Amino acid sequence: MRILVTGGAGYIGSHTVVELQNAGYDVVVIDNLSNSSEKSLERVAEITGKKVPFYRCDILDREKLSDILDKEKVDACIHFAGLKAVGESVQKPWEYYENNIAGTLTLVDVMRKHGVKNIIFSSSSTVYGDPETVPITESCPKGVCTNPYGWTKSMLEQILMDIQKADPEWNVILLRYFNPIGAHKSGRIGENPNGIPNNLMPYITQVAVGKRDHLTVFGNDYNTPDGTGVRDYIHVVDLAKGHVKALKKIEDKAGLKIYNLGTGTGYSVLDIVHNFEEATGVKIPYEIGPRRAGDIAINYASPDLAREELGWVAENGIKEMCADSWNWQKNNPNGYDD
Ligand code: NAD
Ligand code: UFG
Repeated sequence: MRILVTGGAGYIGSHTVVELQNAGYDVVVIDNLSNSSEKSLERVAEITGKKVPFYRCDILDREKLSDILDKEKVDACIHFAGLKAVGESVQKPWEYYENNIAGTLTLVDVMRKHGVKNIIFSSSSTVYGDPETVPITESCPKGVCTNPYGWTKSMLEQILMDIQKADPEWNVILLRYFNPIGAHKSGRIGENPNGIPNNLMPYITQVAVGKRDHLTVFGNDYNTPDGTGVRDYIHVVDLAKGHVKALKKIEDKAGLKIYNLGTGTGYSVLDIVHNFEEATGVKIPYEIGPRRAGDIAINYASPDLAREELGWVAENGIKEMCADSWNWQKNNPNGYDD
């Protein structure tokens, strides 16, 4: 099977290309490199020993996409391409709706015109909003998103569901990721944020490597065991393997399916700091600051459905996630610029 991977030069995409190639799939990557470097794909090739066919292409570029699909004859698409910075999406809503929604509409239209009706879409636990209960199952209602980025995920889920309903030849799998962290064990690929990291783990690793002097913990007055926010952190390699399992489901003619990809365990911000220190031996100075706008107290997944229907279970624990994040950061203090 030949798989088109949009956004394949990015953090989750590059790890998924490794797992796809290891599982014997042919892969074609397209990415506009707006938030990534082509070097990630050179390193993927180093890891797998296989070349990664790559096109620099924007998913909004209908003509170029069409030429690529004419040439490459893919069977399915794993669609990672999108803008993902929550705060930026509040400042630039038009850009987020244009890139993520118009981009996906263009991609899906070109796909169907080429008879490719299999797609795995990167959704997010953000579509649940502030959940009424945890662990969150897929049957929990979707909620109110607090930012345009979240709405793009929520709306794209609806759009893809409607397309599948109208034309049941489509197989659509919506994967709702919880909080991906960690990196490939080789330390050759990993998360490479631009500027000041928004997310917890890259911030911690930048403190550890001496780029920032301390972590600010966003609030310690939440209704959680230690007052800091609780999330379901998942190793990016486990997440990548979830996509390989989802492809098998597509091959079995999945129709429409929705799966949470998380571990089922919640860790607080301070749990992460302490686990990182224990796993790496590096101290992380921190200060307690105010809450961050839009944050919720707790979210963690029930991963039962993915286990039952995909046979997928996250294998790495929190110590491995911390150790692997650090291994990537300390070997590549400037990401792919090293
Ligand atoms: P990333 O930014 O590293 O990867 C996204 C890739 O898409 C980048 O390489 C970027 O250059 C590319 N891209 C963006 N717009 C494009 C366009 N118009 N045309 C072509 N390429 C384009 O992000 P990631 O963390 O790997 O996330 C991958 C997907 O998973 C995204 O859709 C993201 O929203 C989703 N997701 C991420 C998280 C997370 O915490 N990392 C959580 C839930 C969902
Ligand atoms: N946090 C801090 N200090 C920081 C950064 C984060 O205390 O410098 C805290 C946050 O308040 C939160 C936790 O660490 O309690 C995790 O924050 P992240 O920003 O790493 O992750 P979020 O859960 O806020 O959001 C992430 C992605 C979203 C995605 C969501 C669910 O950024 O895009 O996970 O998948 F939608």
